[in-house]
Amino acid sequence: MAKNTLTVTDNRTGKQYEIPIEEGDVIRASHIKEIKVSPSDFGLMSYDPAFSNTASCRSKITFIDGDQGILRYRGYPIEELADKSNYLETAYLIVKGELPDVKHFRAWEQNIKKHTMVHENIKKFMEGFRYDAHPMGVLVGTVGAMSTFYPDAKNIFDLESRRLQTRRLIGKMPTIAAAAYRLSRGLPYVYPDNELSYAGNFLAMLFKMTELRYKPNPILERALDVLFILHADHEQNCSANAMRSVGSSQVDPYSATAAAVAALYGPLHGGANEQVIRMLMEIGSVKNVADMIKKVKGGERLLMGFGHRVYKNYDPRAKIVKKIAYEVFEVTGKNPLIDIALELERIALEDDYFVKRKLYPNVDFYSGIIYQAMGFPMTMFPVLFAIPRTSGWMAQWAEMVRDPEQKIARPRQIYVGEPTRPYSPIEARLEPTSREDAVSDNI
Ligand code: SDX
Repeated sequence: MAKNTLTVTDNRTGKQYEIPIEEGDVIRASHIKEIKVSPSDFGLMSYDPAFSNTASCRSKITFIDGDQGILRYRGYPIEELADKSNYLETAYLIVKGELPDVKHFRAWEQNIKKHTMVHENIKKFMEGFRYDAHPMGVLVGTVGAMSTFYPDAKNIFDLESRRLQTRRLIGKMPTIAAAAYRLSRGLPYVYPDNELSYAGNFLAMLFKMTELRYKPNPILERALDVLFILHADHEQNCSANAMRSVGSSQVDPYSATAAAVAALYGPLHGGANEQVIRMLMEIGSVKNVADMIKKVKGGERLLMGFGHRVYKNYDPRAKIVKKIAYEVFEVTGKNPLIDIALELERIALEDDYFVKRKLYPNVDFYSGIIYQAMGFPMTMFPVLFAIPRTSGWMAQWAEMVRDPEQKIARPRQIYVGEPTRPYSPIEARLEPTSREDAVSDNI
């Protein structure tokens, strides 16, 4: 029977090494280190910038098959969860590993609702931001500040403490997000209404005006809840990696979540949904689509909302988002940008430049069109990604804390800098060389 090993010959020494192939078709980088030219040699390292072919952990939370366009949370297909579940139930599944029965769901729902309020000082803290502060910047700062309100969160090895912080963050993220929005609009904060659903309460904290009680439109409420389900987790994406890496120093989960929010803020990650709308608005009409495609193929621009590190097929979430768009338009009226998006997709999916690079719409391509139709400002779009992803981040963090194989993340490097050289007195020094990173004159 074939052995589950790799036999490697180091042609520098003629030595052979048998390296075990472990579950998941991986080899441990530590085995590569055994390949040496002499006993004093450090040994070989694997080099994988951006970790495009490196597994950082074993995880039970989310499964993605990029070629087949498959996404499952704890084994449940995203299509079924989007169709039959709700966000809080999906968050329970992601955090705890199983779908809840009625009793446990009710308890979970109550426990989350118990934590929708934030400390009054947090609101004062938020008022320190400029009126035009980007809400993702507000979220990074405010979530980080939450670590000072909950010093008990440092007990990361205490299961009950982890559970409490998870409930607090899932409960409070919408409140902070809505407060950032209201602040930017010069509107008074709206306190949570725990009679409403998770998505309904968020809509109320955003859009309630002088009416005694905000009544969310059920179609928009359900659309937002499904969008939250779609964004809840996505295995080792950039922000989950930030959560795990920062969390591996054993810092509290609020500080780690602030790092995850910061990672998500980037235009290549969660910030893409905002950039897609800016790109569609720049294109302006279907007749200008060909010109944008030309720029993209010329390497001048990225087609925002397209491409994915893992999906080399249509992002299954994008298909569902596209369907939700039309349900939302029934209420809000059609967002004309969707015609430009559809034409972009049509041309891109036929064009060899995109086909060859396996570039398909990802979750961000259509979501912004919905958010804009629902009345959200573009700067709030990545925030709408961060809210539901909080359950994924907390699940990834807790799995890392519990994993006996994990320890502080500390990658190695390949040093390509200067060889050793003696210190020289300042008078004797020449003009800094014209290296690409040399200090320029405008010091
Ligand atoms: C999310 O990781 C996750 O799971 C993330 C996410 C989640 O749920 O957490 O799914 C959410 O972040 C979705 C992605 C949102 N970002 C965007 O839509 C921004 C635009 N997309 C690209 O920046 C890019 O596709 C990435 C960042 C998403 C993925 O980049 P990779 O895997 O590093 O791919 P690459 O840059 O190596 O590209 C391979 C080739 C290159 O061309 P060549 O150098 O081979 O000629 O494809 C090209 C790239 O130039 N390419 C694109 C492109 N994406 C890749 N060309 C034009 N437009 C694009 N969008």
